Amino acid sequence: MSKPVRVAILGATGAVGTELLGLLEHREFPVASLKLLASERSVGNSLTFKGESLLVEAVTENSFRGIDLVLASAGGSTSKTWAKNIVESGAVMVDNSSAFRMKSEVPLVIPEINPETTKHHQGIIANPNCTTILMGLAIYPLHQVKPIKRIVVSTYQSASGAGARAMEEVKFQSQAILNGQTPKTKILPYPLAFNLFPHNSPLNSEGYCTEEMKMVNETRKIFNEPDLKITATCIRVPVLRAHSEAVNLEFSTRFSVTEAREIVANSPGLKLVEDWRGNYFPMPIDASGRDEVLVGRIRQDISHPNGLELWLCGDQIRKGAALNAVQIAELLI
Ligand code: A2P
Repeated sequence: MSKPVRVAILGATGAVGTELLGLLEHREFPVASLKLLASERSVGNSLTFKGESLLVEAVTENSFRGIDLVLASAGGSTSKTWAKNIVESGAVMVDNSSAFRMKSEVPLVIPEINPETTKHHQGIIANPNCTTILMGLAIYPLHQVKPIKRIVVSTYQSASGAGARAMEEVKFQSQAILNGQTPKTKILPYPLAFNLFPHNSPLNSEGYCTEEMKMVNETRKIFNEPDLKITATCIRVPVLRAHSEAVNLEFSTRFSVTEAREIVANSPGLKLVEDWRGNYFPMPIDASGRDEVLVGRIRQDISHPNGLELWLCGDQIRKGAALNAVQIAELLI
């Protein structure tokens, strides 16, 4: 892809879409032109890029003509609807949805881990699931030093993963509860304010939800470790925009905690946050709006000589979605 780039954001009005807009500006991505696409609902709305107000357009068959790069974050069905049209128009699609992630011909990329796979794209590059990106970034540097045998992960996922309207819903629900009213649910399946619930994506016959299986299958693909043992439990919590994860890692031999801390502290995209005296560790409120994944509470697993425990928080909208997508786009240029 040659500079400067004619960019379209599909899903520009959403939680990730608006972040993409800010990141393109902030990271000085070489934008030749920018088209903001969303559903009919948003026609007439405008968003600001580099001080200029741009009108949001409804996506149509002609939207991708003369476009080099489409950053898509409008859900899987919208991505599936427009992918052929995008690729045939000659643009590269960096897709934030799960629609194409497990297709063998589609690179699934975390730029700090497998940037070289981007070269083999056939028009579509997939951005991994948010929880997968955050965990992968934190544990891959350890895996490179000593291979991980098994991962047990529990997630604490914010409302932002369900989109901008879910974030608004949690605020309304909180207000309703504080006013003694019954909270309403429209986007989220259950009240999330002052509550939590297991991720409500469809369940398989083994009792795992789709979100959990995304962590399993996508991590294996990104690490190029098809047999890596992973089990996940994904929970939605009443946090607005940063996800947290408790990760248990089993290695084939003992991994020193001191070495693990050093590796985390020196790996790109990570920040070691540990104040053992002050009992201060990563929190979603501190991870929100930041590029780095915060990692801490790295400790020996007392139940296994070759086990490590760690805790991480990362901005779901940023490194979990929009930032990773823009980093992929940067690899392309
Ligand atoms: P709109 O705001 O017009 O509904 P989020 O993940 O935060 O919910 O955002 C989803 C994004 O995807 C929004 O920009 C939304 O636009 C867009 N979107 C949803 N459905 C469609 C569709 N059928 N066609 C184009 N854009 C869509």
